[in-house]
Amino acid sequence: MEKVVSGIRPTGNLHLGNYFGAVKSFVKMQDEYESLFFIADWHSLTTSPKPEDIQRSARVILAEYLACGIDPERAPIYVQSDVKETLELYLFLNMNMYLGELERVTTFKEKARKQPDNVNAGLLTYPTLMAADILQHRAQKVPVGKDQEQNMEMARRCARRFNHIYGVDFFPEPQNFYFNAEAVKVPGLDGSGKMGKSEGNCIYLRDDDKTIRRKVMRAVTDLGPQTPNSERPEVIENLFTFLRICSTPDAYAYFDEKWNDCSLRYGDLKKQIAEDIIKTVAPIRERIEAFSSDVDFLDRVARQGAEVARESAAATLKEVRRIIGFR
Ligand code: TYM
Repeated sequence: MEKVVSGIRPTGNLHLGNYFGAVKSFVKMQDEYESLFFIADWHSLTTSPKPEDIQRSARVILAEYLACGIDPERAPIYVQSDVKETLELYLFLNMNMYLGELERVTTFKEKARKQPDNVNAGLLTYPTLMAADILQHRAQKVPVGKDQEQNMEMARRCARRFNHIYGVDFFPEPQNFYFNAEAVKVPGLDGSGKMGKSEGNCIYLRDDDKTIRRKVMRAVTDLGPQTPNSERPEVIENLFTFLRICSTPDAYAYFDEKWNDCSLRYGDLKKQIAEDIIKTVAPIRERIEAFSSDVDFLDRVARQGAEVARESAAATLKEVRRIIGFR
């Protein structure tokens, strides 16, 4: 059976970008693949969180994963820092990565611009750690959003290069997996390109109905359609993206027609989007509350997940050491 692995950094609550970009695909995949899901707490260190936030946020995210429908019986969930094998593979893979190619990764360049006083080596080698997360399980598929495409390309490069250097066919090249066969980028509601924790423009799975309505109603728009069948500017196309991912095809067709004949009222469009987002979020939010209160259960899930992940990673590492020449 093919293997799937995916992760999320625990630097804040899950938002719609995480849900539609990765978690929803993952839930769909857990029946058909041997699946592992993890909480990337080491990756979150690249932006220097406070120590007290680290354990708390791992538990918070765990409850949110479960509430989204990840079933730990079928898809074990673990915390990255519980599986030390990853670090050894990270070290090995780093020996084959070049400064130039790591510096060219867009997310590195963006982070370096955003935090110029903290351009640390962890940021630079972030794609290698991500490759180690995936390759340690020799996973074939990785559900991710559009923003992770370049990191995934680096993971494939790590796999190819290792195979090439040692003349083996050991690591499969992991492929991106998308829910509807195409990469998703959930936009921000503030007119910016993407919904993201560091952008401060998120709708969270914990948001109550009123908050969701308020956030959607405040979304940036323009004067409205001026000429029939015109191209939509980005801020408006963003709203249609929400229709595409949260609403029915009929609702999309209805508002698309209204746009094309210039009778669209943004207030109506936003109301539709807000109600459809609430339909997705409300049941998840209720389950988050139920799971969050059972700390013993959360700890047990993480412990059992770590056992499965360690066993899988240890088997890979044993082979990797042998291939490299450590006997
Ligand atoms: P992170 O924590 O930023 O996001 C987790 C997942 O959510 C997706 N995502 C989005 N998808 C569409 N639209 C958006 N606006 C949006 N925002 C976030 C991301 O694509 C991602 O799939 N580097 C990863 C974590 C990671 C990882 C891994 C993932 C570490 N190791 C190994 C897969 C496999 C990250 O920072 O994701």
